[in-house]
Amino acid sequence: VQAGHWTLENDGHSVVLSVGSGICHFHWGGPASNGSEHTLDSRRYPMEMHIVSMKSVHPNMSEALGDPTGLAVLGYFVDVAYADNVPFSHISQKLSAVAYKGQTVRIKPFPLMSLLPKHNMSQYYRYHGSLTTPPCSQAVVWTVYEVPIYISWTQLAQFTSQIFSTKEDAEQVTPLQNNFRHIHPTFGRVVSASRDARLLRGAAGRPACPPLAMGLFQTCLLGVSSRARTFV
Ligand SMILES: *[C@@H]1O[C@H](CO)[C@@H](O)[C@H](O)[C@H]1NC(C)=O
Ligand SMILES: *[C@@H]1O[C@H](CO)[C@@H](O)[C@H](O)[C@H]1NC(C)=O
Ligand SMILES: *[C@@H]1O[C@H](CO)[C@@H](O)[C@H](O)[C@H]1NC(C)=O
Ligand SMILES: [Zn+2]
Repeated sequence: VQAGHWTLENDGHSVVLSVGSGICHFHWGGPASNGSEHTLDSRRYPMEMHIVSMKSVHPNMSEALGDPTGLAVLGYFVDVAYADNVPFSHISQKLSAVAYKGQTVRIKPFPLMSLLPKHNMSQYYRYHGSLTTPPCSQAVVWTVYEVPIYISWTQLAQFTSQIFSTKEDAEQVTPLQNNFRHIHPTFGRVVSASRDARLLRGAAGRPACPPLAMGLFQTCLLGVSSRARTFV
């Protein structure tokens, strides 16, 4: 539980949870389309959650953006299941209070860990990439987890149908949908798979890597795509 003031805000591009010194936000598609930013084996998940942390040597974000490893972003795919995800309701229940751009609501701090998958956290992919929104700075060490977080259809619909990119008093209100960046080429950058990552190893038909080694699988370069490589 990060100490301090927690808020949830609709900034017109996403719903952003500020948790003391870090932030967490979401990317989604629409009622009938998926909107994760990463794809895994060409599969786009319904939604993706990002937890953003800044390297502690930097006094502020603008300094961190000048460092190729200034930010660590943890990316979690979000998929749908029948049951509500109870810890996730800490966020989804508050969405109606931030339906329109510029709205903010206070959130009672809760363990962020409760949002994450209970198992399989040693299955992930990592690469050096960028922010997926302007200024698209190449300052991010990405870690994308293989096993998704599951939420219910109702919880997903609260994002895809009940959040607007416009202010409450706008003449025409517009739903906030498809707020994900498109896949960009890797330009030969290495995408590593953790020792326990399963999906792409299976596809490559290769044996496990030695313990503690980060195995590079060629298929990862096709399967996990990072973005912003065109922003140089
Ligand atoms: C969209 O997500 C659903 C649910 O996870 C999945 O079954 C489907 O394959 C995804 N579509 C694409 C195009 O990846
Ligand atoms: C960020 O920190 C640096 C170094 O302390 C300082 O020069 C700069 O003005 C700060 N920028 C902002 C936007 O606060
Ligand atoms: C999660 O990890 C367990 C072992 O800890 C494994 O049996 C299971 O297949 C993994 N799930 C996925 C979806 O990879
Ligand atoms: Zn993001």
